[in-house]
Amino acid sequence: MPTLLMIIVLLLMICISCTTNGLSSFSPKDNFLIDCAAEKVASLPDGRQFKTDSESKSFLQATDDTKVSSNDPIPNLPSPIYSNARIFIKKAKYTFPLTQPGFHWLRLHFYPIKNTIFELHTATFSVNTDKYVLLHSFNVNNDTPLLKEFLINATDPHFSIYFIPTKDSAAFINAIELVSAPDNLIFDTGSSLFPVGDFSGLTNYAFQTLHRINNGGPLITSSNDTLARTWQSDSDGSYLTNKNLAKSVSVATTAIKFPSNTPTISPLIAPPTVYASAMEMGDAGVDEPNFNVSWKFDVDTAFDYLVRLHFCDIVSKGLNQLYFNVYVNGKMAVPNLDVSAITGALATPYYKDIVVNASLMSDEGLTVQVGPANAEGGNGNAIMNGIEVLKISNSVDSLDGEFGVDGRKAGGSIRGKVATAGFAMMFGAFVGLGVMVIRWNKRPPDWQKRKSFSSWLLPVHAGDTSFMNSKTSMGSHKSNFYSSTMGLGRFFSLAELQEATKNFDSKEIIGVGGFGNVYLGVIDEGTTKVAVKRGNPQSEQGINEFQTEIQMLSKLRHRHLVSLIGYCDENSEMILVYEYMPNGHFRDHLYGKNLPPLSWKQRLEICIGAARGLHYLHTGTAQGIIHRDVKTTNILLDENFNAKVSDFGLSKDAPMGQGHVSTAVKGSFGYLDPEYFRKQQLTEKSDVYSFGVVLLEALCARAAINPQLPREQVNLADWAMQWKRKGMVDKIVDPHLAGSLNAESMKKFAEAAEKCLADYGVDRPTMGDVLWNLEYALQLQDAFTQEGKAQDPSNSTAAVPAPPTPPPNNVNNPTIVDDHSASSRERELPPQQVNENNNGPTQVPPTTTDDYSGTMFSQVNNLSGR
Ligand SMILES: *[C@@H]1O[C@H](CO)[C@@H](O)[C@H](O)[C@H]1NC(C)=O
Ligand SMILES: *[C@@H]1O[C@H](CO)[C@@H](O)[C@H](O)[C@H]1NC(C)=O
Ligand SMILES: *[C@@H]1O[C@H](CO)[C@@H](O)[C@H](O)[C@H]1NC(C)=O
Ligand SMILES: *[C@@H]1O[C@H](CO)[C@@H](O)[C@H](O)[C@H]1NC(C)=O
Repeated sequence: MPTLLMIIVLLLMICISCTTNGLSSFSPKDNFLIDCAAEKVASLPDGRQFKTDSESKSFLQATDDTKVSSNDPIPNLPSPIYSNARIFIKKAKYTFPLTQPGFHWLRLHFYPIKNTIFELHTATFSVNTDKYVLLHSFNVNNDTPLLKEFLINATDPHFSIYFIPTKDSAAFINAIELVSAPDNLIFDTGSSLFPVGDFSGLTNYAFQTLHRINNGGPLITSSNDTLARTWQSDSDGSYLTNKNLAKSVSVATTAIKFPSNTPTISPLIAPPTVYASAMEMGDAGVDEPNFNVSWKFDVDTAFDYLVRLHFCDIVSKGLNQLYFNVYVNGKMAVPNLDVSAITGALATPYYKDIVVNASLMSDEGLTVQVGPANAEGGNGNAIMNGIEVLKISNSVDSLDGEFGVDGRKAGGSIRGKVATAGFAMMFGAFVGLGVMVIRWNKRPPDWQKRKSFSSWLLPVHAGDTSFMNSKTSMGSHKSNFYSSTMGLGRFFSLAELQEATKNFDSKEIIGVGGFGNVYLGVIDEGTTKVAVKRGNPQSEQGINEFQTEIQMLSKLRHRHLVSLIGYCDENSEMILVYEYMPNGHFRDHLYGKNLPPLSWKQRLEICIGAARGLHYLHTGTAQGIIHRDVKTTNILLDENFNAKVSDFGLSKDAPMGQGHVSTAVKGSFGYLDPEYFRKQQLTEKSDVYSFGVVLLEALCARAAINPQLPREQVNLADWAMQWKRKGMVDKIVDPHLAGSLNAESMKKFAEAAEKCLADYGVDRPTMGDVLWNLEYALQLQDAFTQEGKAQDPSNSTAAVPAPPTPPPNNVNNPTIVDDHSASSRERELPPQQVNENNNGPTQVPPTTTDDYSGTMFSQVNNLSGR
């Protein structure tokens, strides 16, 4: 019997040891390790074996592929998997059958080995799964092996990886790991950074590991990590913004006690080595250390990040002695963190997940800081044991670039269902202004390379699904095909435009933008001046979009829109040729350039012209178009000061002399529809809001945002509306207008601006309504001017003009708006307008009719005659 007891005890002990072992070692259900193109099994220093090419052949579907291996052993390669590669000339796919749903590591190994088939340094390609874009226009141009690690929640029994070369290029891969990850690795909730709160839904995203640091400790390779991860060391000062402020501290790994009551914090989260070392404050223990230890990470600031911070109090002598604050991107992420209070013991691991929204990114990328908290009894120290920075897939399921696998574009309106089906897929250009503006300011260094042409080219929206059909025919395009058969404006040869712009001479530059430059060109034997916008093509996709966009733009013809004259797509160039507007930006004539001030009448006429252009964009085409970037620099003036709206097809060019593009775009902040910001829903009413700001600029002759002014004056819209509410707009009117400005006209104008700036889109007027108000303001001004001139009393009856005919209803609302209740409300004339009409004199003032169709007019007449 004692033997039986002993056996039971022994069995129990074995079991216990199994479970403890089970924590630190993990056997993945799915474990595909493929050494692409390998002839023989590769055994890694960590003991793992990768399958050879013949063993993994069944996973691969490729038509034009080839295997290459280095003939001679390559020195200093960390692993044999890098000595051969598979090259794909056409799209190829690996498909793996999975036995278990859930998070999987996908590790892609790249090393551009020398070979006679393809210069792999130049290979540019994308890697996708069925759902996610993992790498977009990716290129390995240095001579060190590159590992890209992803963490993907696979929900299908088959997991496919696509390698897609860009045109005339190739894709390649050296090795693939697809391995189940423990369920407890990613939890659905983290802490959102700002506002601090819970963030849930993490498991719905895919992740890419960008940085993984073992603070104050050694490099940890796949040999030493429980899940074959790599942890970089920051002991040499890398990542630290000031290495003198930090010093490393470590204890024996055996001192680390994983909490027994929290199974989720196990060596699978991070091996004991990570917790056994830390960076602490360089001057720990001085009375009041007054600095932070800071780490900085290069990240693509257009994405959200999951920052996992590992802590383990290996520095304190007793509990509750170490209090510190943790900041991410300058924001308090964890105040008064007392690790030992949470874990109940010293040397016990703990981690914290923090979700950092892209909107909290600065040009500096991502920073993590720790500094002592001013809590009683603290020892004036702060520590960090490990930092992981994981990129979170964006709204279109991409981890690289703005496009999803289905061509959707990040930042698209959630509400834009109508558009998503047709237009968004087609144009892939469904960026909201807010997103665009914010990201623009913080674009990563290689932004220009990754940004597709379309994203700057066409900030407009349309829902015309008939474009879908033309897309297919566009696959094998010939530029002349378009110009000859579809009336896409004139096709310019590259040579022609080189001549027109003196070979793109920098002296001819009249505008600059992130995408490239705008040149003044002279065509047709020196008879015609044109503005030549030249973008740099990056991808086949870009070219297709470019053509679609030309097609779109050339359909837009209106005397208050800057016309597209033609284009050039020779040699993969993407150049658009526009009519030249000699008087430049409206803004330059309002402030900042010391140009002669415009009269009030001129300003009114310019605003009216711009309003007409926008009204046409909103209603004049079947699909309706939202400009998205209405501002005074996008209203250009021809030689007669006629206003034309520009950049409805091109965006983001900053005028010369105003610094680089982000300066100009920062200006756009002052124009941003707050509702769009809140709801991420873009409607034509966002343009109306921005136009309200334009009106105020015209009235007050100051910038939409002027950071140099006292706080309450910085934002023109807020400031002017305060004065408006007090009934004292006259106090902020451009002094140049004093005396010549009719008070009634100004009042009408300010009212129009105020309506445009309503908080909610539904409360804002349509551009048609705005136009109507502006025309009324112009008539009031004209009457005033005439009254001043004419002494004849019979003339003075004209001093009170009738309001002009109200605008027709918008039959063609932009299709992007699918909130029917809102649009139907807009369709009814606001009651006060009908009243004004009835009370006003019967005289019907002239109204320019170019934008309206005859049928619409009869409707209007019925209404006003009611
Ligand atoms: C993976 O995603 C599915 C569906 O979104 C979810 O139900 C599941 O919990 C996720 N898996 C893990 C391990 O979080
Ligand atoms: C990593 O593992 C190897 C082999 O097991 C061992 O020799 C080495 O000391 C380990 N390194 C660390 C940092 O633990
Ligand atoms: C530490 O960094 C945070 C956030 O950037 C900052 O607010 C705080 O003032 C810094 N503390 C010290 C002592 O510099
Ligand atoms: C980031 O913020 C935007 C806008 O507030 C929101 O739509 C998005 O879901 C956020 N992303 C994450 C991961 O919190």
